[in-house]
Amino acid sequence: MRRNGAERGLHSGIVWLYVRSMLASEIESRLLRPAGLPQPGPSGHILDVDAHVAWLRQYAAAVESACEGDPEPLRIKTAHVLGVLGNANAIAAEERFFPPLARACLLAAVYHDVARYEQYRLWHTFRDRDSMSHGELGAVLVGMLGVLEREPQLARAVTEAVRLHNAYALPETLPADVRAVTQTVRDADKLDIMRVMDAHLSRPGPYSPTVVLSRPDDPSLFSDKVIQACLERRAASYDDLASVNDFRLLLGTWIYGLHYKASRRLLARQGHCRRLVEALPADGPYREARTQLLEELASLEAQDKG
Ligand SMILES: [Fe+2]
Repeated sequence: MRRNGAERGLHSGIVWLYVRSMLASEIESRLLRPAGLPQPGPSGHILDVDAHVAWLRQYAAAVESACEGDPEPLRIKTAHVLGVLGNANAIAAEERFFPPLARACLLAAVYHDVARYEQYRLWHTFRDRDSMSHGELGAVLVGMLGVLEREPQLARAVTEAVRLHNAYALPETLPADVRAVTQTVRDADKLDIMRVMDAHLSRPGPYSPTVVLSRPDDPSLFSDKVIQACLERRAASYDDLASVNDFRLLLGTWIYGLHYKASRRLLARQGHCRRLVEALPADGPYREARTQLLEELASLEAQDKG
């Protein structure tokens, strides 16, 4: 049977919804439902999300206590969430978002990585390829655990932002609020991942396999695709990483993946991206890409000071 473009789009959408519902029900049976957690909601000022942060901390502790193995990667994730929340707050303020939109951004920051705890407990990895998309799983968890039931006006935009925060590219058509919240969280997330990776990779190895996604710290290994993405001024893909140096370069390519001007200012101000890129070997396969990124950074730093 031949279908036109619109029918094909509708058909693949229906197939995807079916796959998603099958996946959700299969996975849901394996997920923890910690008892006794409070139901977080608005409190005081519209930008106060402390009740949600408190909920996340209790949830993280509950999953951690059910998890075998080293709890340190989970604690790094909770610190990461707080970093993303701070960045989202800064972006929303500098971009002068309407307060309800800013609140949605903060909630999406709190919950964007809620699936990381279960991902680590169930699969012992943060690699989506070896488990499942933690954005998709996060959207399932947000619904299943009812954390947005007291935020009905914002629940849809927040849940969609959680789902899409780690997608390689966003769908072309998205409601304006979903797009703004998702882009804010994606930018805030990238900025804080740079902080985490800078802290980890600025010290001598060996590096945590969980943090470097099990990529080897071997200077002879590099990916042409990651270098090419940089030279073409676009964000590289995790799927192409061959080594820790590729990871450094991939993080540098996020200069091209940030949506908001406020995010690029934060990137220049925070200094993590510069340290990661400077740590790449100045000669050899990364030379041209490294030089290009350092020029981009110098230009962003000058704009931030100007
Ligand atoms: Fe994430």
